[in-house]
Amino acid sequence: MNETWIILGATSSMARAYARKVSETGAAVILAGRNTKELAALATDCEIRGARSAKAAKLDVRDEKTFGAIIKDAIKEEGTINVACFVGSMPDQSEIDDDPSLIDGVVTDSFTGPAKFLQTIAPELEARDGGTVVGVGSVAGDRGRVGNYVYGAAKAGFHTYLSGLRNRLTRSGGHVVTVKPGFVDTAMTWGIEGMFLVAKPEDIADEIHKAVKKKRNTIYTPFFWRYIMLIIRSIPEPIFKKMSI
Ligand SMILES: NC(=O)c1ccc[n+]([C@@H]2O[C@H](COP(=O)([O-])OP(=O)(O)OC[C@H]3O[C@@H](n4cnc5c(N)ncnc54)[C@H](OP(=O)(O)O)[C@@H]3O)[C@@H](O)[C@H]2O)c1
Repeated sequence: MNETWIILGATSSMARAYARKVSETGAAVILAGRNTKELAALATDCEIRGARSAKAAKLDVRDEKTFGAIIKDAIKEEGTINVACFVGSMPDQSEIDDDPSLIDGVVTDSFTGPAKFLQTIAPELEARDGGTVVGVGSVAGDRGRVGNYVYGAAKAGFHTYLSGLRNRLTRSGGHVVTVKPGFVDTAMTWGIEGMFLVAKPEDIADEIHKAVKKKRNTIYTPFFWRYIMLIIRSIPEPIFKKMSI
């Protein structure tokens, strides 16, 4: 079956690894992001790996005007349209504490921008009997922590959005996979101190690929974060509010 994957935030190293993976299955890939020069190089790589077609597309989730051309490109392709969203931004919480206006950007990049894109394309997915949406959230969305609670709040909103979208797309045969990574070695986390059990982006891409095949609803990746977050969510608030984890 012909598949097209639109990859949002395709310069992310997790996204690049995922784009390579779906290219090996012969899918068409639309690599969307702000740096189209880098994405053009990735498109060549994807074609060499077997993508039916691969192209770079301009996307800034803060600018809805960039959505239309990507969606137009996707609907030219026959078969199922799938979307994997890796977009997000995480400035240091202390920067946001100093400048609360940064909240808007974090929430747009990590929640409302991707949600608007998905909301715009959802009717096209429904018209083609579904399709798969992969939404990359974060374990940070499971509980507000002193170190990154604005980013965490944006991801929590995105998780709830994805849950509702899953409910909607199920009705037309579609599916939504919510991905909650723990610490991953990427540009977002370079230089952050105190990280542990740091995963490789390629391993996260493999886990996402498996989750899509198995139609999982929500995955923690690597898997042990499910148990770490179970413990973190179970800490009573009177104790949690004094902790710096
Ligand atoms: N690394 C971790 O430990 C970790 C853990 C949990 C969840 N996550 C999530 O995993 C996803 C991928 O992140 P990453 O770790 O691979 O970091 P990353 O390299 O910083 O990836 C973030 C991606 O979002 C894109 N982006 C940010 N703002 C955008 C905007 N306004 N419009 C379009 N694209 C925008 C970035 O594009 P540019 O290249 O143009 O900046 C980049 O492609 C993110 O959603 C992140 O929140 C990461």
